[in-house]
Amino acid sequence: MRTLDWEDGAVVTIDQCALPHQEITLRVRTVDELIDAIKRLAIRGAPALGIAGAFGVAIAARTHLSDADRPLGEAAARADAERLASARPTAVNLRWGVEQALASLGDGPDAVLATALRLMDEDDRMNHQATVNAADVIVGLCPDRPLRLLTHCNAGALATAGLRGTALGAVFELAERGLVEFVIVDETRPLLQGARLTAWELGRAGIPHRLSVDSAAASLMARGLVDCVVVGADRITANGDVANKIGTYGLAVSAAYHGIPMVVVAPESTVDEQLKDGALIEVEERDADEVRQVLGMPVAPEATEAFNPAFDVTPAELVTAVVTEARVMRSEKAAAGRTAR
Ligand code: MRU
Repeated sequence: MRTLDWEDGAVVTIDQCALPHQEITLRVRTVDELIDAIKRLAIRGAPALGIAGAFGVAIAARTHLSDADRPLGEAAARADAERLASARPTAVNLRWGVEQALASLGDGPDAVLATALRLMDEDDRMNHQATVNAADVIVGLCPDRPLRLLTHCNAGALATAGLRGTALGAVFELAERGLVEFVIVDETRPLLQGARLTAWELGRAGIPHRLSVDSAAASLMARGLVDCVVVGADRITANGDVANKIGTYGLAVSAAYHGIPMVVVAPESTVDEQLKDGALIEVEERDADEVRQVLGMPVAPEATEAFNPAFDVTPAELVTAVVTEARVMRSEKAAAGRTAR
């Protein structure tokens, strides 16, 4: 089953806020509902946001282009598209998906929907190829067998419109090749995408995994329990800097210290050639309550101030390889610093 699809005029998806305890199907029929689903992370993960954005423009086109006044209808659809594209600022895929769909606006609502459906099919193919490429890269980088892999956040099927995701898809590919001993799953505070979503996906796939608090990662590396860190990305700038879920940068620093390869898996649509480097990436700052609470339960005094950046930026030199469906970008500096243990 696809984790994001289009059915009878609605975006159909699994509500990621309710997982893993409830599997609720969401049917999103309006742009406002879609923006709400994106903001509260019912739909999340960079590639999934791209496809959702494209479907959002299809909804906007159906809603407004039937207006008698065509220029007015187009202006209203473009205004909706802009609201969608800015619902979350860091993952470049969201604006990318919106813009791809907007390019068909002049040809009418059916053309916009056709574009969104094409992007959805391509998402599957591209991510699948990226996972095969990444598995090959990881095999080349890691001499020990079977592999102990560490991942952060959720870069699985849930984070895409496809069937197995990006970084977690590479894990699935390696498991199919019989190469995985276990996966260490960072719980990924504050919203626990690792615990709630990645553990759920790995459990369904029957891949051995252990959940771990984020702050244990460095010590697990020091104990020799990690052969490779494999994560997704929300935006990769022209120089190879990588924005991903908060905590990724810390993992990269620890991995470099311990001589462990750090592999990023993403579709080309996550590469933002317009931005020179990671300093230019807008990092989404989310509500402080997400830090003061755990799944809605207060864990800090109510008035406590908090930082809540949803992402961080890992400099290219700490990333051993960025793997897409089309290429492998290797950092010479990162490669030089990593030796097999
Ligand atoms: O805030 P989220 O859950 O949307 O953050 C998602 C991530 O950081 C993922 O690692 C990234 O989008 C890659 S998903 C293939």
